[in-house]
Amino acid sequence: MSTIFVTREVPEEGLIALRNAGHVVDVSPKDGVLTKEELIAALSAKPYDAVLCLLTDKIDGEVMDAVPSAKIFANYAVGFDNIDVAAAKERGVIVTNTPDVLSDTVALHALALILALARRIPESDRFVRAGKYKGWQPLLLLGMDLTGKTLGIVGAGRIGQSLARMAHNGFGMHIVYTDMKRNEAFEAELGASFVATIDELLPQVDALSLHVPLLPTTTHLMNAARLSLMKKSAYLVNTSRGPVVDEVALVEALRTGVIAGAALDVFEHEPALSPGLTDLENVILTPHTASASRETRAHMAEVAAKNILTVLGGEGAPNAL
Ligand code: DGY
Repeated sequence: MSTIFVTREVPEEGLIALRNAGHVVDVSPKDGVLTKEELIAALSAKPYDAVLCLLTDKIDGEVMDAVPSAKIFANYAVGFDNIDVAAAKERGVIVTNTPDVLSDTVALHALALILALARRIPESDRFVRAGKYKGWQPLLLLGMDLTGKTLGIVGAGRIGQSLARMAHNGFGMHIVYTDMKRNEAFEAELGASFVATIDELLPQVDALSLHVPLLPTTTHLMNAARLSLMKKSAYLVNTSRGPVVDEVALVEALRTGVIAGAALDVFEHEPALSPGLTDLENVILTPHTASASRETRAHMAEVAAKNILTVLGGEGAPNAL
């Protein structure tokens, strides 16, 4: 029997899997993100064998040292920029994530944001609720069609490819992508075009969707200079990590018409919003819910639990980083 600490309530499917395997599972009673001090105190309380943590937990060497008995930190997310993986390797601690199971759900959210921007849905809803609708007008709240338009994908991994399939097969969008490596099978499947750099991609697209991990090289990937390479009629969607977009530059670009609109599911200083963002009509904001379907969040809990169970069973984790 092992003891596992879970930093915040997750769907019960994962917890049941851990308990059914005979382990003791302690879930943090706090309905909120643990501060570093709280996290260290909680992890020091028992010689935990494993930790199930969230993307909101900053797991550095100091936190790992609070629980030297832990063999694994299983992150309940595909992104793992919250964990110092090098520090984990130095300590022989395994870090895992939850890839695959959330790809279609995040892609669907990105697509929903593209649709909502193109058809100005939140803006139209606000207009009607404010009592401004006085009758049909030929020029009222005109948006953009998607058929025949170009979707740019930055990072054609699982999520980027899934979005490209939905947009191409469902809406007849042309796909142009950039990635560290070219994927000829993906190009053949969707008639997608590869460009070597983001700067070549930006002027071509009517909608741009970001699907890169947060790294020093992707921080502020979308800055003022790059936003100005986009068409004035184009939309930007970010469901990856907030700091990939320079939010100050984005607010300015949206305010001055450099691009037509943006939708953000993630924020540079999450959960804080950059000044001016909420004053804009041409931005859609969702609270990091791109993977938030009941099914997917349950699958993520099952995958995190499976990673823990495999490591506690003495085997290599399926999703070790
Ligand atoms: C992830 O898994 O990294 C997502 O951001 C969760 O929504």
